Amino acid sequence: MATIFITGNSSGLGLGLTQLYLNQSDQVYSLSRSDCPLKQPALHHCKQDLSQLENIEQQLEKLLPDSLDLVILNAGILGQINDLADTSMQEVQSIMDINVWSNKVIIDWLIKNNIKVKQLIIISSGASINGNRGWGIYSMSKAAINMMAKLYVHEMPDTHITAYAPGLVHTQMQEYLCHDVDTVKFPSVAGLVSAYQTEYMPDIDTAAKLIAESFEECLKFDSGSFLDIRQLIKS
Ligand SMILES: NC(=O)c1ccc[n+]([C@@H]2O[C@H](COP(=O)([O-])OP(=O)(O)OC[C@H]3O[C@@H](n4cnc5c(N)ncnc54)[C@H](OP(=O)(O)O)[C@@H]3O)[C@@H](O)[C@H]2O)c1
Repeated sequence: MATIFITGNSSGLGLGLTQLYLNQSDQVYSLSRSDCPLKQPALHHCKQDLSQLENIEQQLEKLLPDSLDLVILNAGILGQINDLADTSMQEVQSIMDINVWSNKVIIDWLIKNNIKVKQLIIISSGASINGNRGWGIYSMSKAAINMMAKLYVHEMPDTHITAYAPGLVHTQMQEYLCHDVDTVKFPSVAGLVSAYQTEYMPDIDTAAKLIAESFEECLKFDSGSFLDIRQLIKS
C-alpha cells in the first residue's frame, strides 16, 4: 500500500490516476478546486482553489501525513489558445499562479515540514519545449516547471523529481482544443484534432494506467529530468 498525493483530481488525468491508485488499495490524499467525484475511505480529499496561494499551506497541514511515496502535482490550466500580444496580464497571472507558483508553495511546504517524499512528479507538457503559435503562457508555464524540477533537485536530495509530459489524454482540456480553436491560425492544434477519439488520445483510465507504469521508468533517469511518456514508452 502506497501513500500518494495528487493535485487536480476532480476531473481529467488526476481523476483517472486517483481511481487507479484507489483500485490498488493505496491511500490517496488530494486537493482540487471542486470535489472529487470518487468517495472512498482511502481517499482523503480537500477542496482548495490553487490560485489562492496564501491558503494552500493551511490545507496541506490538515491533509497530509509525514511521508509520501509519490507526489503528483497535476493541477493545471491551459487558458485560451491565443497570440501572446492578445493575452492579458490578468490571464498571464492566473495561468502562472496555478501552473507554476502553487506548485512552488506546495513543494516548499513539503521541504519545510520535513515530509519524506520518495518520488515527485510535476506534470509538464510537450508544449514546454514546442514553441507553437498560440500556446504562449501555457508553454511558458510548463517550461518554468521543467526548470523548477531541475532546481529543486538541489534542495530535495532524497526525492526523485521528474517534470513529466503525459502525452495526449482525452480530457476537458482536449475538448476545448479539438472543438473551439481556429486551426488555420493555430495549425499545431490540427494534430490534436486528428488524434481526437483515436488510440493516440486515450481516455483517462487507459492513460492513467500507462502513465502510472511509466512513473517507475522515470526512476531510471537523473532526478530533475524532463521526460515525455512518448519517449519512455519507446525506450
Ligand atoms: N490532457 C492532455 O492531453 C494533456 C497534455 C499535456 C499535459 N497535460 C497536463 O495534465 C494536467 C491535467 O490536465 P487535464 O487534461 O486532466 O485537465 P482537466 O481535465 O482540465 O483537469 C484539470 C484538473 O486541475 C484542477 N484545477 C484547475 N485549476 C485549479 C485551481 N485553480 N485550483 C485547484 N485545482 C484546479 C481541475 O479542478 P477544477 O475543475 O475543480 O478546477 C481538474 O481537477 C495539467 O497540468 C495539464 O497541463 C494534459
